[in-house]
Amino acid sequence: MGKAHSNAWRQAPHFFPLKANVELHTICGRDPKGVEAARGQLGWENASTDWKAVVNSPEIDIIDINTPNDSHAEIAIAAAKAGKAILCEKPLGMDVAQCKEMVDAVKKAKVVNMVCHNYRRIPAIAHAKKMIEEGTLGDIFHYHARYAQDWIVDPEFPLVWRLQKGVSGSGAHGDINAHIIDLGRYLVGEFKEVCGLLNTFIKERPLQDQGGKGDGLGAKAGRKMGKVTVDDAAICIGRFANGALANLEATRFALGRKNHISIEINGSKGSLYFDFEDMNRLKWFDNTRPADRQGFSDILVTQPGGVHPYVGNWWPPGHIIGYEHTFVHTIADFVNACVDGKSVQPTFEDGLKNERVLQAVEESAKNREWVKI
Ligand SMILES: NC(=O)c1ccc[n+]([C@@H]2O[C@H](COP(=O)([O-])OP(=O)(O)OC[C@H]3O[C@@H](n4cnc5c(N)ncnc54)[C@H](O)[C@@H]3O)[C@@H](O)[C@H]2O)c1
Repeated sequence: MGKAHSNAWRQAPHFFPLKANVELHTICGRDPKGVEAARGQLGWENASTDWKAVVNSPEIDIIDINTPNDSHAEIAIAAAKAGKAILCEKPLGMDVAQCKEMVDAVKKAKVVNMVCHNYRRIPAIAHAKKMIEEGTLGDIFHYHARYAQDWIVDPEFPLVWRLQKGVSGSGAHGDINAHIIDLGRYLVGEFKEVCGLLNTFIKERPLQDQGGKGDGLGAKAGRKMGKVTVDDAAICIGRFANGALANLEATRFALGRKNHISIEINGSKGSLYFDFEDMNRLKWFDNTRPADRQGFSDILVTQPGGVHPYVGNWWPPGHIIGYEHTFVHTIADFVNACVDGKSVQPTFEDGLKNERVLQAVEESAKNREWVKI
């Protein structure tokens, strides 16, 4: 994420009317050599291995937290105490109690705060939100979402931090279910109750050989084995407060699916369908059209002039955008909110509400019963 966010900080001022200049002051990491290389490559002025010094620097106004999940709370709470605006990666914290502390800290310090659920700012998703708010779908019946990847199907893939509960909190659940829960809350409304199922297909993996490339896909397996302490897949059904039904699946075991986020929403007047791997499009079924002309229509969400959100700041119609742009949109909105001192969604409060759903699904899976949010 350091790479995705750095790119967005660099690009946002070039494409969006920001109310302040952005200076990429300091990038922080653990390894002096690694962070210095990242500084040069990603365009930062300074490099540091001391996040406390960065958080307390009087020259810095914004802290952008891209570390593994177990350190979000400590850094965010310190940043709030230092009066900084905070952008924090998802999931906000490790559990509800920790997220609550983070919310309390930003409220007490009255600092602008945002969770990086960047998928909210895919133009097609933001456009779906507008259509739903305008009543285009009528009453919502179903929110059906699947976030599927396949990067750990190989049992030889090592035990990176994402597979260790103490660092990540949970597996596919907190990593990618968190995104589709957030989109459900954004597009449909608050969850009321859930029933969940979590599963770990591969229970032991080789420990990571530190000679490997990073903690992600480039990680290398060592010889010793260790226990996988998180879920590989998470499934849940649920009910929203407005009566709509939720059907969610997050998995890292769907061969062929790389970053497959598919969302279908069905309402009394029509349906919407979105697939991240074709992210410039939104499919719309309009039941108010004459029966002989009905069918899913294909909206290419690239129309400038305010017709479609965000895309007018990029290229002419039909000149499509990609993953990195979602971070640029997020950061552009965040910077302007910081200047105005205004709230910008999704806030830490949204991160807490998201965590309440995540935790309820875990509790449900553990006790084999429905859980109210
Ligand atoms: N929004 C998204 O779509 C999205 C996608 C991927 C990851 N994420 C989130 O971003 C966060 C980071 O994930 P990642 O895949 O980039 O992880 P990563 O392991 O690739 O990178 C984490 C970085 O944090 C640094 N770090 C760890 N502890 C530190 C410390 N004490 N001080 C300074 N630096 C420290 C590491 O050196 C490393 O550079 C996670 O919370 C993850 O859930 C979000």
